[in-house]
Amino acid sequence: MKRWCIPLLVALAGCRGQASSDPPIHVFDDMDWQPKFQPEEGTSLFPDGRAMRPLVQGTVAQGSLDESEAFRTGKDGEAFVAMAPITVDDAVIRRGRDRFNIYCAPCHDQSGSGQGMVVKRGYPPPIDLASDRARGLPDGEIFNVITNGVRNMPSYRKQIPVRDRWAIVTWVRVLQRSQHARIDDVPEGQRGNIVKESGTP
Ligand code: HEC
Repeated sequence: MKRWCIPLLVALAGCRGQASSDPPIHVFDDMDWQPKFQPEEGTSLFPDGRAMRPLVQGTVAQGSLDESEAFRTGKDGEAFVAMAPITVDDAVIRRGRDRFNIYCAPCHDQSGSGQGMVVKRGYPPPIDLASDRARGLPDGEIFNVITNGVRNMPSYRKQIPVRDRWAIVTWVRVLQRSQHARIDDVPEGQRGNIVKESGTP
């Protein structure tokens, strides 16, 4: 018998067609064996002994968001909501100022007049947020501008979570009010503290 027949016979002997309960020999194990946890598996890594971790607080399954449509979109049907659908308090307004100064002031500047640093360097100037046009926009439309952008203004949907967008809307209202303030807005005891800028009537 020629010598090359021997490996051939050995190879053929492996093809006997019998079932075996032994695991197959893994010559190349590729990624069949991975150091990972299976669902429901236990571990000593965490004090509760579970490899499956509880969901992070605030996790929402797709399609299970229970906030109202007005809250998520700023719209009630086709129309923009006139008022932000959140409870506005001091903390919300402060949060709004904080987020406005981060995300909006680069273009709109901190007063909202539209002379932010990005504009000074050549970006198309936005309208004054205290202008009659901006004051006339319903809260829902300002929310929508932040969410989707408008003409030359990019969308901030990805950077700013929904609740913060509403907080920013409340701060835009504060800026608008501050530029159109009347003496009645100042508590009586503090009216004497107001200093008129030179040149203003
Ligand atoms: C990159 C610069 C930039 C940033 C950042 C920016 N805006 Fe604007 N915004 C613009 C420009 C430019 C316009 C004018 C859009 C146009 O009419 O072409 C505008 C317009 C607006 C308007 C008026 C929309 C209208 O219908 O006339 C509002 C309200 C507004 N921005 C709010 C915001 C708020 C709130 C933020 C922060 C979340 C923000 N913007 C961030 C550039 C910016």
